[in-house]
Amino acid sequence: MRHFDFKDGELYAEGVALSRIAAEVGTPVYVYSSATFERHYRVFADSFSGMDTLVAYSVKANSNIAVLQTLAKLGAGADVVSGGELARALIAGIPGARIVFSGVGKTKSEMSDALDANIKMFNVESLPELHALNAVAMQKGVRAPIAFRVNPDVSAGGHEKISTGKKENKFGIAWSGAEQAYAEAARLPGIEVVGVDVHIGSQIDDLAPFEAAIVKVAGLITRLREQGHTIRAFDIGGGLGIPYGDNGRTPPQPSEYGALVRRLTADLDVQMVFEPGRMIAGNSGILLTQVLYVKQGEDRDFLILDAAMNDLLRPALYDAFHDMEPVCAPGPDYTSHTYDIVGPICESGDTFAKGREMPELSSGDLIVIHSTGAYGAAQSSQYNTRPLVPEVMVRGDEYRVIRERPTVMDILKTERLVDW
Ligand code: LLP
Repeated sequence: MRHFDFKDGELYAEGVALSRIAAEVGTPVYVYSSATFERHYRVFADSFSGMDTLVAYSVKANSNIAVLQTLAKLGAGADVVSGGELARALIAGIPGARIVFSGVGKTKSEMSDALDANIKMFNVESLPELHALNAVAMQKGVRAPIAFRVNPDVSAGGHEKISTGKKENKFGIAWSGAEQAYAEAARLPGIEVVGVDVHIGSQIDDLAPFEAAIVKVAGLITRLREQGHTIRAFDIGGGLGIPYGDNGRTPPQPSEYGALVRRLTADLDVQMVFEPGRMIAGNSGILLTQVLYVKQGEDRDFLILDAAMNDLLRPALYDAFHDMEPVCAPGPDYTSHTYDIVGPICESGDTFAKGREMPELSSGDLIVIHSTGAYGAAQSSQYNTRPLVPEVMVRGDEYRVIRERPTVMDILKTERLVDW
């Protein structure tokens, strides 16, 4: 459930009219509903009630510090993949003890910062990374808590570019080498083995791959314990899909996922760690944009928006479908029209939808692109020297600008003319 609804023929985010945000902040702009963030977090966390769990929100999905702060207040932890994301989580009030650090290429300086923050666990993805972490920890006279991210060779994920759990992917320790890796870790004085981690992909709309991965890892945990390792945490990663409104398959409910995890881990005696990103953030945000021009092409008509692929990369990068609708509900006898919906950037990939049926629109109309709270603003760039898209958080009938739109001079201030 999301809090973007029509009132008196106009689309609102909670109690704030989107037309008001457009007038006061300008477009394009991301608009988030704090009530939706809170609801998604609670529904997810509550589906494991009574179990020993940590919900470590995957910061990469939407890393704005106000988003992290909203979730931190509910008790969320964080899954971070860089020193930058670690800093965001700490600034937003997420304690180190609730932070896990993932990613195949952690630098020594990131490891050092994470050790200083006393994070819960490093999800280590290779033996060279293990040795680097051991060296950093020994220098500080501490032991780094680790899980290995193991690669269960399970196929999952909505798109080739976001599927991660197959053996040909760059992620994790090969399944066949996992026990050897744990034996190696146990020998290192700067390392403390505490868990096992997997992450099999993103936008997964089926529970079967989760089941396959959990069953495989449960077996591994039993063997590792027999070999003398202490395994307290089982991090199952993120990946639960969300509905994007494309009439595709409906992803499982968090309650169904909760029941599966409960059933498969009942006798395992571990703390379950989850790293949901999209599930929490995806339908908590929309991209609000204005029609610049309606252009009649030779064989089709184009809606040219003021948002572009630099603001929302998902359609260009993954052919992703996003539902779109006008902010002003059309009257009862409206005519619809088929458009290619595009941005102003100079490449054909800057297309949000092809042949999309919409109510007939004209220059100046506002439209929203739905389900863009996850991997929207977080993946935005300043390509074509378009200022980074701002972000707004709504709560009830108030809103705050949580990322400002930079001026062109803000963009240019980190660049230098050469002096020769
Ligand atoms: N944990 C790890 C280790 C991950 O790599 C990811 C996502 C997550 C958790 C969160 O997964 P989620 O719950 O959001 O599915 N940019 C792409 C998605 C990339 C996902 C990368 N890893 C998109 O827009 O679809």
